[in-house]
Amino acid sequence: MVDNMRTVVSGSFPKNPCFITDVHRASLDIGSAGIYSKEAVSEVTEAHLTRYFTKQGDAYHVLPELRKMIVFAPHNVTKDAPFTKLDLVCCRNLLIYLQPHAQKKVLSLFHFGLKTGGALFLGPSESPGEIADEFETLDRHWKTRGDPSHVACKTKTL
Ligand SMILES: C[S@@+](CC[C@H](N)C(=O)[O-])C[C@H]1O[C@@H](n2cnc3c(N)ncnc32)[C@H](O)[C@@H]1O
Repeated sequence: MVDNMRTVVSGSFPKNPCFITDVHRASLDIGSAGIYSKEAVSEVTEAHLTRYFTKQGDAYHVLPELRKMIVFAPHNVTKDAPFTKLDLVCCRNLLIYLQPHAQKKVLSLFHFGLKTGGALFLGPSESPGEIADEFETLDRHWKTRGDPSHVACKTKTL
């Protein structure tokens, strides 16, 4: 995922922070700890485990250099002020649970928050929908190691 993000954004490891947000604080606490069981990393390649984790006992700990890049923050995408000047918004499998009017609002906020040319990474059953004209689809079924994703790119404002 990190490698894919790196490719999408700029071709180099991002120096800017990565925000990981959710309304569910307990999930943020788990992510923030950066400690995963063997089962949790079962789909991570050996190369990525070596590059981004250290093994301590049976657990895999995210490398401090990677963890320091990431800011975990509570954020409600339907209510809170959007983040801005973003290179990439990755929001998979949330929009499908929202009503159409809420989907449109959230997608508009993502569009507002993205830099021109920034990428929007959605779940396999999600798309920019009613504001599709504002985006260029890069790939409808980009295969990562897990599910495919819909990837769109914010187009230039003419
Ligand atoms: C179905 S999970 C998807 C998780 C992950 N992206 C994936 O694809 O496996 C939906 C996530 O969205 C979060 N969520 C639900 N409503 C939200 C909202 N209004 N703002 C931010 N996060 C929300 C939930 O807490 C949950 O972590």
